[in-house]
Amino acid sequence: MILAFDTSCDDTSVSCFKNNKTYSNIISSQNEIHRKFGGIMPEMAARKHMESIGYLTKEALEQMGASIKNIELVAVTTGPGLLPSLLVGVSFAKGLAYSNSLPIISINHIEGHLFAPFLDAGNPIFPFVGLVVSGGHTHIFLVNGVGRYKLLGKTLDDAVGEAFDKVARVLDIGYPGGPVIDRLSKTGNPDRFKIPQGMNKKNTLNFSFSGTKTYVKNLVNNTHNLSITDKADIASSFQKAAVDILWKRSYQACISNGIRRLAVSGGVSANSYLRSKFEEEAEKNGIELFMPTKEMTTDNALMIAFAAYMKKDEATFDYSSIEANPRFKIY
Ligand code: KG4
Ligand code: ZN
Repeated sequence: MILAFDTSCDDTSVSCFKNNKTYSNIISSQNEIHRKFGGIMPEMAARKHMESIGYLTKEALEQMGASIKNIELVAVTTGPGLLPSLLVGVSFAKGLAYSNSLPIISINHIEGHLFAPFLDAGNPIFPFVGLVVSGGHTHIFLVNGVGRYKLLGKTLDDAVGEAFDKVARVLDIGYPGGPVIDRLSKTGNPDRFKIPQGMNKKNTLNFSFSGTKTYVKNLVNNTHNLSITDKADIASSFQKAAVDILWKRSYQACISNGIRRLAVSGGVSANSYLRSKFEEEAEKNGIELFMPTKEMTTDNALMIAFAAYMKKDEATFDYSSIEANPRFKIY
């Protein structure tokens, strides 16, 4: 039984994982706190993690009818993420492991996202092309096995989730941006504005979203009295531009590597247009597509537990080797 923690950003999450089918996954969102600032306040996020991690752990164990005595391994996200946030989870997990003489394992948050689409399958099926789309990442990996990751492409500026959040701020439609744009886009016309996709060259698997974001900013600044219909059309046109380039690059990555298996993960994979576009294109183009359940798209500790389950040989009793690393890379 694995007890896993993720406090990499603004969600506090604890999961108790018995096997692929039995688990708890408690996620406590801090959206209410950060909403009034229009973005995440790192120190406030850390304070909130500290406040809630204890009782969330109790809840995660109770939901499984377990106690700390049943736990065999502690897993924790050590990076990448916000340092003050990471420190809370890492310190708590180390303290718990040490005081109960349990082994501990360090998990990279991106590794957690990468494998999340395979939870229902029980195990990842290698090789696969992995697209991770979140608030900090827009990366395409070739995944040949556990710990065998090759970076194929990434954003050269903003992450796609960051672009969603910034566009929502420019449109003044609420926080957090991704889910708000997703909702508003359903009433909008995605073909009204031709928004540039950025890096739309043939021979690259990289992305660039800063031009896309700036185009929307200028469009909003140059239009007086934007109606809610205008906003919905802009949101929807932006969403289409961003998601379509994600599909294009992912498909290109599959074809150029001779792989017909694609796994998409991270907060932006919760997007309803992304999910339908990827499903439709994958079916049309003979690609086997894996996407996490909606709960597993955004940050959660279950994906950390699942990654730990696959990497359990790396567990250690050398507690001092487990450190928070905001720039922890897997490639
Ligand atoms: O994976 P995640 O929870 O945290 C990071 O590791 O960054 O991803 C958060 C990102 C945010 O930028 C958020 O706006 C975006 O995922 N997001 C969405 C949706 N839900 C969350 N973006 C588009 N559509 C959504 N439905
Ligand atoms: Zn994440």
